Amino acid sequence: EKGGYDHFMLKEIHEQPNAISDTYRGRLLADKGIIKMGSVDNNITKFLNAKRIIIVACGTSWHAGLVGEYLIEEFARIPVEVEYASEFRYRNPIISKDDIVIAISQSGETADTLAAIKLAKANGAFVFGICNVVGSSIARETNSGAYTHAGPEIGVASTKAFTTQITVLSLIALKLGNLKGELSNSKFNNYLQELKLIPSKVTEVLKINTEIEKIAAIYKDAPNCLYLGRGFNFPVALEGALKLKEISYIHAEGYPAAEMKHGPIALIDASMPVIVIATKKGHYEKVVSNIQEIKSRKGKIIAIVTKGDTVVKEIADHVIEIPETEEAFTPLLTTIPLQLLSYYIAVMRGCNVDQPRNLAKSVTVE
Ligand code: F6R
Repeated sequence: EKGGYDHFMLKEIHEQPNAISDTYRGRLLADKGIIKMGSVDNNITKFLNAKRIIIVACGTSWHAGLVGEYLIEEFARIPVEVEYASEFRYRNPIISKDDIVIAISQSGETADTLAAIKLAKANGAFVFGICNVVGSSIARETNSGAYTHAGPEIGVASTKAFTTQITVLSLIALKLGNLKGELSNSKFNNYLQELKLIPSKVTEVLKINTEIEKIAAIYKDAPNCLYLGRGFNFPVALEGALKLKEISYIHAEGYPAAEMKHGPIALIDASMPVIVIATKKGHYEKVVSNIQEIKSRKGKIIAIVTKGDTVVKEIADHVIEIPETEEAFTPLLTTIPLQLLSYYIAVMRGCNVDQPRNLAKSVTVE
């Protein structure tokens, strides 16, 4: 049932190229220059007239929502707010009928997300779901929605659900951007062609397994770990830190790289591993100077870089290379080595990676 892998988590990490292709199936028609999504097409006036999109979710799905904010604002130019469902539901939020609420949930059973949806509907908002489990409570409660089609996710730590949620959000953002006239047909087509290549690029990233295992062996006993990223990769830093803490029980924090000097830099010394996402285009020079600041305080740098990078290679203790892609799609690639790193560290520490202590796959109570 684990398909030859030691754990469901590792199997699900490796399933991502296929899972993303399954998310695309019937939707991404790159050669025709079309993104077809019935649930968006059927509600297109609502989407195009939306004054605001509010994304509600918990945990990893909330991180996917943050990537969604960057995607939708960049391509469709619709203001987006991302809320923890648990905060949204209890703070008397301002919701109107011109708002679209997007609820993201792998299980479709998360109690706080479900309650947030009910509240939004009661206030007249149109609620769109992005779920993985077909027929789940959230899928039934929302006005409309799109499934991720990632297949069953058994490991408690979410992996392929995250990348397929981002995939759905990319499709929606690009489609709306094109229809709103924010993205010209030629730019839109270029993005579609690039999206088509993502599964094979994920396959390429999965091949760097052994290098990541070596890095894991060096840092497996670290008591703390920092994850830094900017722009589209800031949410990836948060997700990387969450993956590490939940399965290896190492304390980890994710930060926007520029926030370092507002506090966390005080933590840096020779025993602190810092994982930095430093891909080309994504505020690259800024991230390089953040890396230099960490290095001068003797922190250990593990950098995720674009293939062929030379500058970061000079400064970092370790580099993990990923193929080049559009900046907006980098989270789909940069996430993979962070999942693998957490996985190997957890295994080396003897942790139960598929069923970490104190955690449940579906959080059906608040
Ligand atoms: C992290 C993880 C949790 C879930 C969260 C939301 O790996 O699995 O943080 O992402 O409980 O769950 P869903 O997406 O089912 O609503």
